[in-house]
Amino acid sequence: MTDATKSATLTIDGNAYELPMYSPTSGPDVVDIRKLYAQAGVFTYDPGFTSTASCDSTITFIDGDKGELLHRGYPIDQLAAKSHYLEVCYLLLYGELPSAKDLEVFESTITRHTMIHEQMHNFFRGFRRDAHPMATMVGVVGAMSAFYHDSTDISDERQREIASHRLIAKMPTIAAMAYKYSVGQPFVYPRNDLDYAANFLHMCFAVPAEEYVVDPILARAMDRIFTLHADHEQNASTSTVRLASSSGANPFACIAAGIACLWGPAHGGANQACLEMLKEIGTPDRIPEFIARAKDKNDPFRLMGFGHRVYKNFDPRATVMKQSADEVLELLGVENNPILQVAKELETAALNDPYFADKKLFPNVDFYSGIILEAMGFPTSMFTPIFAVSRTVGWISQWKEQLADPQMKIGRPRQLYQGSVTRDYIDIENR
Ligand code: SDX
Repeated sequence: MTDATKSATLTIDGNAYELPMYSPTSGPDVVDIRKLYAQAGVFTYDPGFTSTASCDSTITFIDGDKGELLHRGYPIDQLAAKSHYLEVCYLLLYGELPSAKDLEVFESTITRHTMIHEQMHNFFRGFRRDAHPMATMVGVVGAMSAFYHDSTDISDERQREIASHRLIAKMPTIAAMAYKYSVGQPFVYPRNDLDYAANFLHMCFAVPAEEYVVDPILARAMDRIFTLHADHEQNASTSTVRLASSSGANPFACIAAGIACLWGPAHGGANQACLEMLKEIGTPDRIPEFIARAKDKNDPFRLMGFGHRVYKNFDPRATVMKQSADEVLELLGVENNPILQVAKELETAALNDPYFADKKLFPNVDFYSGIILEAMGFPTSMFTPIFAVSRTVGWISQWKEQLADPQMKIGRPRQLYQGSVTRDYIDIENR
């Protein structure tokens, strides 16, 4: 935490309260209100936390006006072009890009943690075949705390490290197993001769009946999708992980809570909802109808994959994802994919409509990701699990940062109470 650079004065009922202010390395100054209730007997009010900094962090920074996303200072477009997911994982976890030796050790460690406890296979069989893979992931990841007791003590730095590696390594295996179970195919074990993204594709699409060779261009596209979703400041699921961790809950329980939050269509579930929306639109001539619905205050419909709490410009991840969509669909010979055509024309129509321009609503990371994932052979139900696989390193990095923060306290917000004042019980015969 930096020292106060200046102060703000809040006057309530004629009384002035000095509140310290801190300046960040990037972004808005913050007003420290921690002592406000003790000094002035009032709460601040900010449902949705639109103006509230919940912590200080050095991991990720977003400039919503510029459309810039930095991981430990490195722009996401440079990382997507020059780095790869496990190197970005190292950067997020440890704060610096690794040396060649450190990267080799880290990748070898992750590779050797990709198998899950054999008894956990039974967990999957307890779900109905048609269970959404996110339901399976919430259950199985939470159950990891029942299998990996030797890495649940959060006061032990080595156990925190092992839990971090296990989660990053095993999430692809669990997600692939959830997919295989949903389609009635046998589980495919991870392979140590494949890199992270290729291994995930192999676990999803290989079958015992024949050799499955991973296309290196698809593996590169998969790795880029993982990189683009790795971390994103204090988004809803990361804040969920931080709040769960503030009570001292074990890392597997905290990540399971993050997966549950990510599932919602306003957050990580938007990639599935976006592709379903594009399919519902079906042809470009129906775009005006859906644009009108998105603008209609009486219609709850929103353009999925559009808008963002922080970005008031293009989401830089969407820009990279759009380029990747063109490459992957051309490689697969489906560049004339009608859904991609609808997406591009919908984007153009929305960006030229004053409603979206005035509200600064631009495509976000979820607008094009589903098109790529579907072209790669994934069902829409696997889109958010893939987001969860990628975001695990962000959740874990933020979890580690919070545990190392000497200021950490259990998160316990207050409220603006609008309910009944004290009243006496009424016996049933008198009601
Ligand atoms: C992710 O936080 C993160 O960083 C998340 C994420 C990450 O990496 O972790 O980036 C991943 O979740 C991306 C967002 C995915 N969600 C969607 O694509 C769903 C569609 N988008 C919206 O639901 C919405 O834009 C949110 C939830 C993303 C943001 O909502 P906010 O910040 O609470 O904004 P708001 O709802 O107050 O909207 C402001 C105005 C409203 O109109 P008014 O009441 O001011 O008249 O814009 C309108 C909204 O009605 N609006 C939309 C819209 N999004 C906002 N209108 C039509 N279509 C939309 N998509």
